[in-house]
Amino acid sequence: MGAMSDASKTTNAKKVFIKTYGCQMNVYDSDRMTDALADHGFSPTQDMGEADLVLLNTCHIREKAAEKVYSELGRIRDFRNEREPGAKKMLIGVAGCVAQAEGEEIMARAPAVDLVFGPQSYHRLPELVARADRERVIDTDFPEEDKFAHLPAPKKEVTISRGLTAFLTVQEGCDKFCSFCVVPYTRGAEVSRPVAQVIAEARALADAGVREITLLGQNVNAYHGVDDKGRQIGLGELCYLLAEIEGLARIRYTTSHPRDMDDALIAAHRDLDKLMPYLHLPVQSGSDTILKAMNRRHTAAQYLEIIDRIKQARPDMALSGDFIVGFPGETDRDFADTLDMVKKVGYASAFSFKYSTRPGTPGAEMDNQVPEAVKAERLEALQAEITAHQTAFNAGCVGLTLPVLLEKKGRNPGQIAGRSPYLQPVHIEADESLIGQILPVEIVDRAKNSLVGTIVTSKVQAV
Ligand code: 5AD
Ligand code: SF4
Repeated sequence: MGAMSDASKTTNAKKVFIKTYGCQMNVYDSDRMTDALADHGFSPTQDMGEADLVLLNTCHIREKAAEKVYSELGRIRDFRNEREPGAKKMLIGVAGCVAQAEGEEIMARAPAVDLVFGPQSYHRLPELVARADRERVIDTDFPEEDKFAHLPAPKKEVTISRGLTAFLTVQEGCDKFCSFCVVPYTRGAEVSRPVAQVIAEARALADAGVREITLLGQNVNAYHGVDDKGRQIGLGELCYLLAEIEGLARIRYTTSHPRDMDDALIAAHRDLDKLMPYLHLPVQSGSDTILKAMNRRHTAAQYLEIIDRIKQARPDMALSGDFIVGFPGETDRDFADTLDMVKKVGYASAFSFKYSTRPGTPGAEMDNQVPEAVKAERLEALQAEITAHQTAFNAGCVGLTLPVLLEKKGRNPGQIAGRSPYLQPVHIEADESLIGQILPVEIVDRAKNSLVGTIVTSKVQAV
């Protein structure tokens, strides 16, 4: 009897190693996969050597990201083959957007892979893993059932072990079809989670001790979830409901499209202190010609006008963005307009990328592809401009008192680390018993990408 229960213990105590690439939605998904597997006897591990299941959660947004998957799969295959004879069975699975877009190709190019499944199948993972034990499995359908309704919630202690801040996916997919982007193809049409489901998940996070949530969606401000009365509500209205949840102190959302910054969402920024004054609003280019070719469906002037309206509602709003350089047809003049856009907006931070041709998107078919060397040159110039603004923004914070969410122990003893409303890391000499609180912190200095502060009790100021 004793021997039997020992044996069942060994079979139940399986380990999963997940490596996550790409955006925050993948980070969220990896946690939900961990939760789905937890109910089936898998616990997470950081050590591939002890894993029964290795999952890569992949990103397809740029060519480099997609290619990384194949080289990583080669490494994992070699690792598996070079283990001691008699080592336990290790399954290899590929999830995420590369799986969705190139499932068959992965099966053909990487024979070591046992399991390929797309983002809409995560709730079926335990069943897929059981099948993969017997045969190679591919599942990249868009099923009828609501994945989120079938994904189990994490246990309270698991939530809190993940930290005081959490992601919450409220929307998936995109209907915008920007001409450079694979997302409408890999993640499909826009789908919003019902309001009650989102509120319940946010409540559970707050109950477990989470202080800040970031609502996620490929196009999050296009959210249009159905409420209990059968009405569709937008992201603005959702934020008012979330702001009522006790314990939850901060709300953020990402990533947004300028055309979906509607009046209700802007009003929420005016009314809700919990909605953080830091907005990621990608523009991609400052040139009207390129914006048109990108099918962004707004001009540079319209983008600036939206920012003006947001700043009227919330004067301390800081912005971040995404840019692409070297889109087909981009001239020096177009690129100069992009630099000009950075100067006008004065971003607190921004991401910039060289255009990457994605098969199946309209951009891939366009003439006038820009040479790699020109892209590289423009990227360097753009990043220098962005860095200058980021540095100026951080420097402007020195001397201010900002509310800081004290999140975790710092690198050195006696130090704790937190985040400002603008997502800047802040290092503070203070006792770790304060972790979990939001306290006014006077910013006394800055490093390259972070701030240094001391806790004060005086009034909090905004930038
Ligand atoms: N090439 C380069 N960058 C891209 N992005 C999306 N598609 C591409 C592409 N084909 C960038 C955009 C987007 C961010 C998530 O990735 O800037 O906002
Ligand atoms: Fe891609 Fe964003 Fe454009 Fe949708 S809005 S197509 S996700 S860049």
